[in-house]
Amino acid sequence: MIQIKSVEQLKLWRQSQLGSVVIVPTMGALHSGHLALIEVAKRRFDVVLVSIFVNPGQFGPREDFFQYPRPLHADLENLQHAGVDAVFLPTDQDIYPNGYRIATRIKVPIMGKVLCGKSRPRFFEGVCSVVLRLIQLSRPMGIVLGEKDFQQLQIIKEMLTSLFYEVEVIGVKTVRDATGLALSSRNQYLSSDDRRLSAEIYHGMLLVRNASITNHRVSFLRHIFFQYITDKIPGSRIDYADIVDSRIRRLRVIKPDARLIVAVWIEKTRLIDNLALRDQFELTND
Ligand code: PAF
Repeated sequence: MIQIKSVEQLKLWRQSQLGSVVIVPTMGALHSGHLALIEVAKRRFDVVLVSIFVNPGQFGPREDFFQYPRPLHADLENLQHAGVDAVFLPTDQDIYPNGYRIATRIKVPIMGKVLCGKSRPRFFEGVCSVVLRLIQLSRPMGIVLGEKDFQQLQIIKEMLTSLFYEVEVIGVKTVRDATGLALSSRNQYLSSDDRRLSAEIYHGMLLVRNASITNHRVSFLRHIFFQYITDKIPGSRIDYADIVDSRIRRLRVIKPDARLIVAVWIEKTRLIDNLALRDQFELTND
């Protein structure tokens, strides 16, 4: 596996690649969810490039940028073991040579302003601004992203389509642990008790999916989720729990592409998750 440590090196490496290149952008602290993205990338394309960059642009001033885990050594071992061809390890300076504050930024309105975009006002602007730079630099045929960040996935699709990029965006099904908790680098922040309670988020979502078979009213289904989480996870706070379509528009009644999408604070950790309410919108990774 080649380690690419500068933009110049990335450009040279890219020029030497003849097969189809795919990028898997990450912020490191890799877990089995990331490895699932890499598996899909390897199956679909010739050359897999993974980036590890904790993007300062997508963290708010009171968020966990400095605390975010950076286990680089373990990450590199995992990538090597996963059969990745190259890893791009840029510095802040490489990505934003004049600093993020004055860097050109990309905004996707409406979709980027609701749910996570409401609670984290600069978040999607930061995500789009870095993902577009990574695409520009690596000129891939595809980009692979996790469905756990469903709003992010749909916003990146929208950004690339509306800017006429011919890059295939591939969403990969969420990987969960044995209890149902969606894997996330931020799960490391949870105490073992909180981790156990966090699994209730998935159980609450399943309850909503079952209820949605007979009752199509979103207000009723949201109520079920709120009630369940309040009962099962004392001290938690629901940031949002909504049912949206694939363009992240709030629904009043269930449509075929309806998806429950939630963010729940458990102590100081904010966990996000989502679930397609109808099977035909459930992703498979085959
Ligand atoms: O999902 C993430 O880890 C990040 O938002 C991404 C896509 C790597 C951009 O920094």
